[in-house]
Amino acid sequence: MSNSDDLLDVLLVGYGAVGVMYTYFLENSKRARVTVVARGNYSLVQDKGINIESGRLGNHAAWKPYRIFGSVSDAADRQYHYVVVTTKALPDVLPTSRLLSPLLAAEYKFPQPTYVLAQNGLGVEDDLYAAAKRTRSHEPIIITGAVFLDASLTDSRDGLVQGTMEKLVVGLYVGETAPPPAPDAVASLQTFVDVMKQGGSNASMAENIQYEKFMKNRWNAVVASLCTLARQPPPAMSLTPKLEEIVEGPLHGTLQELSALGQALGYPVTEEDARFLTDRTLRGFSKTSPHLPSMLVDVQRGSPLEVEVIIGALVRLGKKYKVSMPRMELIYALLSIIQVQNLQKDGLKV
Ligand SMILES: *[C@@H]1O[C@H](CO)[C@@H](O)[C@H](O)[C@H]1NC(C)=O
Ligand SMILES: *[C@@H]1O[C@H](CO)[C@@H](O)[C@H](O)[C@H]1NC(C)=O
Repeated sequence: MSNSDDLLDVLLVGYGAVGVMYTYFLENSKRARVTVVARGNYSLVQDKGINIESGRLGNHAAWKPYRIFGSVSDAADRQYHYVVVTTKALPDVLPTSRLLSPLLAAEYKFPQPTYVLAQNGLGVEDDLYAAAKRTRSHEPIIITGAVFLDASLTDSRDGLVQGTMEKLVVGLYVGETAPPPAPDAVASLQTFVDVMKQGGSNASMAENIQYEKFMKNRWNAVVASLCTLARQPPPAMSLTPKLEEIVEGPLHGTLQELSALGQALGYPVTEEDARFLTDRTLRGFSKTSPHLPSMLVDVQRGSPLEVEVIIGALVRLGKKYKVSMPRMELIYALLSIIQVQNLQKDGLKV
């Protein structure tokens, strides 16, 4: 165990399944101590800890990290080397710059951290980058990642269940008008990956992180969207041969729109890609697979959907790069109707 003075201080915001896993990896490295912000279930996780049952982490009863707070402002009492964000990305409900405002405010006297955004969707970094750039003279350092993880919290919210699959791919965010990454940014990325790996995570650095995020986002943008609109898990799409035939054309057509967009963005996406994903969606799932896309779970709970970063961002890129995406636009419109209903019902701003 290192001397506590040598430990990296990490703040992790968003103590859901991804947040618990990453907190464990970071502390398990013995190189970091993690202050957690658990906004929804602060007293529960503070009092009882989390019961971890995980193929990758092992089993740990009532596990707690170094410190737990209920808000970012309570946690803004020291310098952090890294601030890891594992919340859902909801720019239409709570932009990341507002979530992290206590760290961006002039009253926060400590040097700026490296931000790590472990979130679904595209363009999740833009608002934080702009806000950090506005308030500080130093070029912001933002690591962004694609998270692959078969973990969920139990309904009681004090247990984590995970299988064996876990993969984190990260890279530095480079804004459209930003200079290429400075050596201190590259070193910070390297250290983060090293620490995560030492803690047991299957973390790696991407050559082109935005390409990795784009490829990961395809499934959520098309398959999870259609499941959410139909209120059914993926195997329901091919329950009968007749149904499979009805679904196949539109599903493939929608995925083809994303292949065209990927090509316009300069990514090596081929024609076979849409075919492969269509086949896997209709014929690759066990008919009894219990897995539900997280967007479908959100809609069942009446929670906000990550519609802007998963679908809206693609539609906006399509307009910018003049790629016709009528099917994606329709999906975006329908999910936006659900989103605004839910937000207004909960009295959330839209
Ligand atoms: C924990 O969070 C969930 C979802 O955010 C909420 O429904 C539940 O009431 C919370 N439970 C406690 C004990 O705080
Ligand atoms: C670890 O990551 C690699 C590639 O990044 C992937 O091929 C492999 O399946 C992952 N392992 C696990 C256990 O998830």
